[in-house]
Amino acid sequence: MHATVAAATDAQLVAEVEDALARSLVDHPLAPRLRDAMQYAVLGGGKRVRPILVLRACEAVGGLRRDAMAAAVALEMVHCFSLVHDDLPALDNDDLRRGRPTTHRAHGEALAILAGDGLMSVAMELALASPRRGAEIARELASATTGMITGQVYDTLGGFDGAPDAGARLRLIHDHKTGALLRAACRMGALAGTPSEAHLAALTAYGEAMGLMFQVVDDIIDETQSTEHLGKTAGKDRDAGKLTYPSVFGLDESRRHVERLLDRAVEAVTPLGEPAAPLVQMARILATRTR
Ligand code: IPE
Ligand code: IPE
Ligand code: MG
Ligand code: MG
Ligand code: MG
Repeated sequence: MHATVAAATDAQLVAEVEDALARSLVDHPLAPRLRDAMQYAVLGGGKRVRPILVLRACEAVGGLRRDAMAAAVALEMVHCFSLVHDDLPALDNDDLRRGRPTTHRAHGEALAILAGDGLMSVAMELALASPRRGAEIARELASATTGMITGQVYDTLGGFDGAPDAGARLRLIHDHKTGALLRAACRMGALAGTPSEAHLAALTAYGEAMGLMFQVVDDIIDETQSTEHLGKTAGKDRDAGKLTYPSVFGLDESRRHVERLLDRAVEAVTPLGEPAAPLVQMARILATRTR
């Protein structure tokens, strides 16, 4: 994980998440070649933003971190599945991810497709087995996964009914392809901690602002950073003619939008007070991240 983000999200938490991720793949009955590909997809770096959000959201409502770890691991597995499939030739056709060859480049296309499938199904098993509110947490993860896949369809194939202008289309793409999993991170973490209705609503609003913000920043850094710095191919969106915030609104307005979304995220969790301080700090770091 990148040092700046690690400092904000707590290197110790990242290590705990990575241990739990590794263990859950070793423990599971899987064909050896499938396990290799799944481990490659999950354990090769990454900022671990989503699982850290799960853990921090749980703590923000007064819950115990250990009650949220299964949810955190499950969500990161779905995220890794989304990256493996996002990189496939039929989607973004990328060769580089987290500074290494993409899973289909390293293991072949068939295993990459199957590893993505396997990560989703193992994730659902793990979420269901969460120590508290497993069914609710798994339902949250499943519907967010459907949302993410819907977003990938809009991003890759279009077919926007009832979203005539570029701004509305962008919202549909971003709220789904990225927003759904970040929103779920906050809700799954909160559910693991047994939140009040007001706290769940606050974390949902925070997650929605963070979800859109995260993808607007991803669009900005695709245009402004190098492939070497990102560990994934830079300039891809423009080359592929993707609908992004910078391509529609320009870089300056995209940056102002990030500021507005950051304010919205921080305001949403302010009523939770001190236990939500790490979420505020995380929002600030993710607004200014460069990878
Ligand atoms: C990349 O996500 C894909 C998006 C949804 C923008 P991350 O930037 O969280 O990727 P990793 O997990 O750190 O590699
Ligand atoms: C990420 O969108 C969305 C999902 C993986 C669901 P991008 O296509 O922009 O992600 P990167 O830039 O390849 O990481
Ligand atoms: Mg994509
Ligand atoms: Mg991509
Ligand atoms: Mg991108």
